[in-house]
Amino acid sequence: MRVFSGIRPTGQIHIGNYLGAITQWISLQEKEDCIFSIVDWHAIVTPYDEKKLQENIFDLATTYLACGLNPEKCILFVQSQVKEHVELAWLLGSITPLGELKRMTQFKDKSEKHPEYVNTGLLNYPILMAADILLYDANQVPIGQDQKQHLEITRNIAERFNKKYGKTFVIPEPMIMKEGAKIMSLQNPEKKMSKTDDTKGCIGLFDKPEEIKEKIMAATTDSGKEIKYDVINKKGISNLLNIYSIFSHKTIKEIEKEFEGKGYGDFKKALAELLIEKLKDIRKKKSELIKNKEYVYSVLEKGNKGARKIASAKMEKVKKLMGL
Ligand code: AMP
Ligand code: TRP
Repeated sequence: MRVFSGIRPTGQIHIGNYLGAITQWISLQEKEDCIFSIVDWHAIVTPYDEKKLQENIFDLATTYLACGLNPEKCILFVQSQVKEHVELAWLLGSITPLGELKRMTQFKDKSEKHPEYVNTGLLNYPILMAADILLYDANQVPIGQDQKQHLEITRNIAERFNKKYGKTFVIPEPMIMKEGAKIMSLQNPEKKMSKTDDTKGCIGLFDKPEEIKEKIMAATTDSGKEIKYDVINKKGISNLLNIYSIFSHKTIKEIEKEFEGKGYGDFKKALAELLIEKLKDIRKKKSELIKNKEYVYSVLEKGNKGARKIASAKMEKVKKLMGL
């Protein structure tokens, strides 16, 4: 089974990305044929700093490796190093209705957030994402809940193409991890945790122990005192319970029991300690990788080559079918 996924190099990875995406990838590489990308072409449609982009790409590559992605077991590559992604995106644009793109929640949210920067790249974002996935005949696409809509449009595009030009693309399935699917901001549990939004509500994978503690202790909680999972009335605590549960491999029920009779303060302290401990090894590995630039770039170069080989063969077929 072929698996494809990617993350935008837009700054530090947070625990939402880690739980919603990377932890799934780590277990998938053991049994499936996996391709993971640093999707830099997707990073330029919202405001970004061009002077920092290369640094962010390198940073994300070291994060992938520090978290445990193994270049012997999967392909790790940089999207912009495989030109077929934009080439296919252009072709797929010819069979994608404008209305479908305008309906995308991400397009609506991001245009509202950056009214000064509503570019057609942002509108076309899902077509590029479809190209990423379809080029490699991916069967499964591990993503967070927020990307589900983009996968639906990918499936529509693939189906439409297959119908018009003959069976060409595999129809991909989303793969969404249940508990980790959506980690919310610590400051506003109505909003998902995001690296481009707030920093106090977002725990970076490489935040210092003091910062982690500070952010967890300052996390918004709800009225009442009980440590109880209730996503309607206790959104803040439920989010923290979720994070605790995934990092500790305990069920929510077990955690509720453990903290029976204790207050929010005790629970938050325990959560901060747990996070600090769990993230320690990843931190250490990353600091070693940062010093070993040559190795990191050689991994990417090898991945880029592997990806190009698959992508160019697929592109040949697509172009022929389209009469190009
Ligand atoms: P992004 O940072 O938007 O490029 O997202 C990279 C991956 O992490 C995607 O699969 C997202 O769905 C996932 N992701 C982003 N934010 C969250 C979050 N708060 N909770 C869970 N998964 C997330
Ligand atoms: N759009 C995804 C996000 O913001 C990133 C992404 C780009 C992606 N191309 C992809 C994810 C292909 C999965 C497969 O999170």
